[in-house]
Amino acid sequence: MRFENKIVVITGAAGGVGQTLARLFASEGARLMLSDLNEEGLQNTAAEVNQAGAEVSYLAGNLREKTYCEAVIAQAAEVFGGVDILLNNAGIIPRGTIEETTDDMWFTAMDVNLNAVFFLCRAAIPHMKQRGGGAIVNTSSVWGTYPGPNHVAYCTSKGAVAALTKNLGRDCAPLGIRVNAVCPHEINTPMIRSGFERRGLDPDKAVEELNKSVPIGRIAEPEDIADVIAFLASNEARYIAGEAVEVTGAKPVSG
Ligand SMILES: NC(=O)c1ccc[n+]([C@@H]2O[C@H](COP(=O)([O-])OP(=O)(O)OC[C@H]3O[C@@H](n4cnc5c(N)ncnc54)[C@H](O)[C@@H]3O)[C@@H](O)[C@H]2O)c1
Repeated sequence: MRFENKIVVITGAAGGVGQTLARLFASEGARLMLSDLNEEGLQNTAAEVNQAGAEVSYLAGNLREKTYCEAVIAQAAEVFGGVDILLNNAGIIPRGTIEETTDDMWFTAMDVNLNAVFFLCRAAIPHMKQRGGGAIVNTSSVWGTYPGPNHVAYCTSKGAVAALTKNLGRDCAPLGIRVNAVCPHEINTPMIRSGFERRGLDPDKAVEELNKSVPIGRIAEPEDIADVIAFLASNEARYIAGEAVEVTGAKPVSG
């Protein structure tokens, strides 16, 4: 029970990795504040972890809005009395070269993937200070630290998340707040499966094909990433701060 009574905020809690994070942290005693744009999916995640015995609160809304980001943290403080752990997991993946990237794609990627992380961290840190410390785990991507092909808005936003993480990791360490990031390669979630569907491919077959490109033998399952996030958020990682940890099954960025 690494997270007994810890107050944990999870964004993207209706998504592939987010649902898994909610289940994992709930099973280890956390009190959960869940966020997502997808209200029905969010309610389902909340109901599931609540039935499993976790205390849970949730707020559906759009991370593009600063007021919503701040409201998520305010609700955690109001319902549970503070924030110990913040998992900035939500993200979107606009696809395209610079010439294919519209203003809207660019600004949406920056708002959801980067600006929301800034607003949520800024709102959560005073609560963590008040409680004598805390941990933040942001979700970047290896495509943020090395350029993946033809996803300029996504890769740039995720690169900025890694940079923000290293800066906060440096500045918040003296406050007892550890800030780290995970940089996954492909994960078997709706994010990549819907991309295959859009291209007219069978997601199961496409994932099977993609598995062959990974030295460890398969792309990540959400649990593979959630376990690393939980480790970074836990006391076992007490001396790790300001790191962007690659979780790739040894697959390099190529193409
Ligand atoms: N799946 C991959 O291959 C992969 C690889 C590297 C990094 N990542 C990152 O992992 C994280 C989790 O992704 P996932 O694979 O679980 O994706 P997912 O699409 O299954 O889940 C993302 C969740 O974020 C929510 N979200 C999107 N826009 C939002 C907004 N404006 N406001 C509030 N919530 C919003 C979605 O509703 C969804 O539930 C993301 O940050 C993603 O960029 C994923």
